[in-house]
Amino acid sequence: MSSLEHLLQPIKIRSMVLDNRVVIPPMGTFLSNEEGMVTEAALAYISRRVKSGAGLFIQEITAVHPKGRTLPSQLGIFKDEHIQGLKKIVDVVHRQGAKIAVQLHHAGRESMYHLRRGEAMAPSAVPSLVYGGMPREMTLDDIREIIQCFGQAAARAREAGYDAVELHAAHGFLLHQFLSAHANRRTDEYGGPDILQRARFLIEVLREVRRRVGDDYPISIRISVDEEIKGGYTAEDMQKVVPELVKNGCDILHASFGTHGSPAGIIQAPIEYQPGFNVKLARKIKEVVSVPVIGVGRFNDPFIANECIARGDADLIAFGRQHLADPDFLQNAINGKFEDTNKCLACNQGCIERAMFEQKSIRCAINPETGQELIYPTEPAAIRRNVWVVGGGPGGLTAAYEAARLGHKVTLFEKESEIGGQIRYAAQAPYKEAYGEWIRRLASKAVKLGAEIKTGTQVTDEMIIENKPEVVILATGGAEIIPPIDGIDLPHVVTALQVLGGEVAVGQNIVIIGAGLIGMETADYAVARGCQSVTLVEQKPKSPVTKASSHGYMLHKRLRNAGSQQIFGAEVVRIDNNSVTIRVQDAEQTLVPVDQVVIAVGMNPAADLVWTLKEQGIRHWVVGDAVKPRRIIEATEEGARAAWEI
Ligand SMILES: Cc1cc2nc3c(=O)[nH]c(=O)nc-3n(C[C@H](O)[C@H](O)[C@H](O)COP(=O)(O)O)c2cc1C
Repeated sequence: MSSLEHLLQPIKIRSMVLDNRVVIPPMGTFLSNEEGMVTEAALAYISRRVKSGAGLFIQEITAVHPKGRTLPSQLGIFKDEHIQGLKKIVDVVHRQGAKIAVQLHHAGRESMYHLRRGEAMAPSAVPSLVYGGMPREMTLDDIREIIQCFGQAAARAREAGYDAVELHAAHGFLLHQFLSAHANRRTDEYGGPDILQRARFLIEVLREVRRRVGDDYPISIRISVDEEIKGGYTAEDMQKVVPELVKNGCDILHASFGTHGSPAGIIQAPIEYQPGFNVKLARKIKEVVSVPVIGVGRFNDPFIANECIARGDADLIAFGRQHLADPDFLQNAINGKFEDTNKCLACNQGCIERAMFEQKSIRCAINPETGQELIYPTEPAAIRRNVWVVGGGPGGLTAAYEAARLGHKVTLFEKESEIGGQIRYAAQAPYKEAYGEWIRRLASKAVKLGAEIKTGTQVTDEMIIENKPEVVILATGGAEIIPPIDGIDLPHVVTALQVLGGEVAVGQNIVIIGAGLIGMETADYAVARGCQSVTLVEQKPKSPVTKASSHGYMLHKRLRNAGSQQIFGAEVVRIDNNSVTIRVQDAEQTLVPVDQVVIAVGMNPAADLVWTLKEQGIRHWVVGDAVKPRRIIEATEEGARAAWEI
């Protein structure tokens, strides 16, 4: 047997037989239409996910009540008209041999849309953890109505052909709000100091769902085992609840954690957390019940998941974002080529943060196919072109890989001796080694497809004029900005990339000018290397790195714990040998002692070759930071698009 023997074991849960223990957990996609109906884009996305070979696909939050939606475009199952569209999803999943459950959801107080309209309701009138708005307290009639709605939705799910339903009692949504002493301050039979009293609503919902779906139909409940908020309930509290859930008809416990208001976006844990870091919570649930338990949290490696099952931590393992980064990971592992897999970097740029901050449909920073399956070209290009890609950062390498995949003859030129562009530097910051692995894998996959990579080769205007390449993708990135500050030429003034690249040793008392992501990561790097003090000086009135993003939260926390200071609204007046003078609100102050000043004020796009390309009439695209310095996701998307359009 392979070393995936435990993960690949089938499992029977009531009437449902799963081929293996791999679960695709629910992930909201924003791919449905404005009325919450299923779209072709959603079907294409789902079809690609289940190609992984996972045994169970759990469909994203699907609303049981129109006023329980996070947005009107959320998938719905609150009226019979939804059934027809939902059947299409069921068919797509069944055609690939997987089983499908639908996650039944009511947002309660965590719906910005309904909060704004004064229509959000919750167990008590306590403001939303995420949006701050105030819901109204549910009456007993509301409670009875919502119990009915869950039951009716479950009946529709069965009619549509789903193999199971999952009640979403996690992450701070309505069913969880009842469990939470933070949200539930009721003094009637649905509230109380004991979590078992607060579990009454969930148990009544469960009983109604069981009544509607019959005895043989599997019901999963997704719980947050630990609430992960100050004063929230703990795994030990949850250990009291789950036996009651099982007694009342729950067949699967899906052991998630946290709420959308928990620090560091822990539900979608950032890269600082190891794969499977919270499977211990699944184990806590397994200690007190005998139904199958699903473990989740940063799993991006099936071999680690296999070990967790072998150890008895969980019975099934959910791989969420890994299914976005590379749905072929499981087949790769089975076929002995797991090293070809794009492992999820937990950056959250294309998935949860895009959804939550921008309300945009799902993507992935390192997989341009995700969320774009309908337009993702799979056939070789009709005409094989001779393509030059200039620049070997994320945009250039993605362009090279995609162009080679489509059959073009690709040559990538990188002026440095190594590929990677800015990722070479970013990967030096704490916890970010995986970024370097990703970029090296991308390059080697491009080479396997026939792309030629020429490092140490700077493309010049003359080369372009002489060789007249058919197509050029310019991914030349950006150049560090050196601000005209008095003292900028002193020998102890260096740039962030010089520090991260190891070109200069880290000083002891450092002032970093610019507290954007690069400045903060350079500070993080310096702290990790034992420097004594780091002060970040930023012109903007507040931090450009939001704590609302998981990585931003972790960076702020680490730097605060290390005692580093951030000064906002500050202008640098002068750099001297041992000090930096700044002006904050018209008052000058001098930072001493300073033995190193690091410049991290940003980048300017470096796309000078574009003029020659235009003059020569060469078809070209400019992508990534060469257009405007931004994140990985913009670089990879633009690189891929250029390759698709050739
Ligand atoms: C874009 C996105 C949307 C999500 N939507 C849901 C959802 O609809 N319901 C839910 O219970 N969890 C949702 N989650 C949480 C995931 O199911 C999963 O618990 C989380 O991503 C952690 O697993 P991972 O580290 O394997 O990604 C979502 C996560 C992401 C990234």
